Amino acid sequence: MTRIHRISILFTLLFAAVFGSCVSNRKAEVSNLKDPEPHRPRYHFTPDSMWMNDPNGLVYFEGEYHLFYQYHPHSTVWGPMHWGHAISTDLLHWEHQPVALYPDSLGWIFSGSAVADHHNTSGLGKDGTTPLIAVYTYHNSDLEKQGSLKYQYQGLAYSLDKGRSWTKYAGNPVLDNPGMKDFRDPKVVWHEPTQKWIMTLAVGDHIRFYTSPNLLNWTFASEFGKEIGAHGGVWECPDLFELDVENKPTEKKWVLLVSINPGGPNGGSATQYFTGSFDGTSFVPETTETRWVDHGKDNYAGVSFAGIPDQDGRRIVVGWMSNWQYATKVPTTRWRSAMTIPRTFHLVDHDGTGTLYSRPVAELENLREPEITIEPITLTPNDQHSQSETIIPETAEIHLVFDFSTDSAATSFGLIIGNDQSQQLVAGYDREAGAFYIDRNQAGDGSFSADFKGKHSAPYQAGGEKTISMRIFLDVASLEFFAQDGAVVLTDIFFPDTPVHKLRFFSSNGTVRLVSAKVYPLKATIK
Ligand code: FRU
Repeated sequence: MTRIHRISILFTLLFAAVFGSCVSNRKAEVSNLKDPEPHRPRYHFTPDSMWMNDPNGLVYFEGEYHLFYQYHPHSTVWGPMHWGHAISTDLLHWEHQPVALYPDSLGWIFSGSAVADHHNTSGLGKDGTTPLIAVYTYHNSDLEKQGSLKYQYQGLAYSLDKGRSWTKYAGNPVLDNPGMKDFRDPKVVWHEPTQKWIMTLAVGDHIRFYTSPNLLNWTFASEFGKEIGAHGGVWECPDLFELDVENKPTEKKWVLLVSINPGGPNGGSATQYFTGSFDGTSFVPETTETRWVDHGKDNYAGVSFAGIPDQDGRRIVVGWMSNWQYATKVPTTRWRSAMTIPRTFHLVDHDGTGTLYSRPVAELENLREPEITIEPITLTPNDQHSQSETIIPETAEIHLVFDFSTDSAATSFGLIIGNDQSQQLVAGYDREAGAFYIDRNQAGDGSFSADFKGKHSAPYQAGGEKTISMRIFLDVASLEFFAQDGAVVLTDIFFPDTPVHKLRFFSSNGTVRLVSAKVYPLKATIK
């Protein structure tokens, strides 16, 4: 071997070593890169990109759930509204569809509802095809700028191909504005006893009901709510439906949902509900108390699916998991906001008044991975953190039952979900205050809005009960907390710097027994 040869081999080896180490360094670097979408939920619906707010036009039709939503396809903040669209056959996996409704010369497309017109009352069906009909608000920003009060009115569009394409009705608007600011978000239902369509509309500080034989011509029926309920903001996105009373088998009651912004119990937006009777013309409430669907800060504009078959019989609802106080500022880049998990509504009689319960839909059980078993444990005050830590994935369903009957000194107890940075979300029951709560003060980034951090509580008096049950859905950056079988719900989003994966339990000032604890890791539904 010549000297030159030896030098060249040496060079080759040296080059390979340096280059090789560069390659592996680069690999290490890549795997250390921060997830570009660290707060994207894995089993909640999110738009693939850009801005989303309210769910719209929720309807089940011929084996498919349709989720339309307020969408701005060109920006991650609110603007000229369209209806985005997704379809699912199981309420869990959603296929994104092309934009369903675009703004037109009458205005932007604000919130509304969809129904299947099975009897073709509208005459828009052809050759025996049932039309899907969307009724929505046109928001005319030019008229608004000119100072007119009449800038919102109701339009209609129909689809003859299972929601894949939509035609705007040539006679729009179907309900013009009588001179009332904030005249929007029609929720349309078929009222069997009077054989009429009912439109529930949010009008500033109250609700108006309209009726129609054909979805095209609407007649004013009555108004409700000027002197009842919360009035800290504008009423929006109503819903009206009848529910069986769970613990009084022969009774049914009507439920009216009214979202309000601002004026929610924790500031910003929230949804209140009324229970009572509805005769096809007017709604009569059974109590004047103000009551909330969810006491967390991030469940707004929730409405229920139309068209769920009678043999299913559920009232399935989806809400927007954000709050107008900070929705446009939350630290996500490619998209903004998610929907809640689908839930079912139930009415439970308490001393003659219907109370609205929310429970996760049963379909969610299909996402469960094998259970992580946690042995029952006695939680003593102040040393609890180390004795009970369990590593969990950041998508999980957690079931807990606490027995607090043996030590009256125990004031509060619950769970803490944290990350390696000691950021943590706390959820629990405070016996002294008589309230469930979520505390997101230490849960990560809150710098984007002074309204974000906080502790949110839902009143609940544990009368003669000895145990408290908590069912929690964690999905990367959101927590949905169902207590006492859905009697109390709190929904909060949060933005940890790194994934939360440590679960521990606590009790303050006294001893509490965690009698049962199960964690189901949940499969992702998005790719
Ligand atoms: C509620 C809401 C609706 C309106 C829509 C506009 O969040 O303000 O009242 O139709 O959003 O995007």
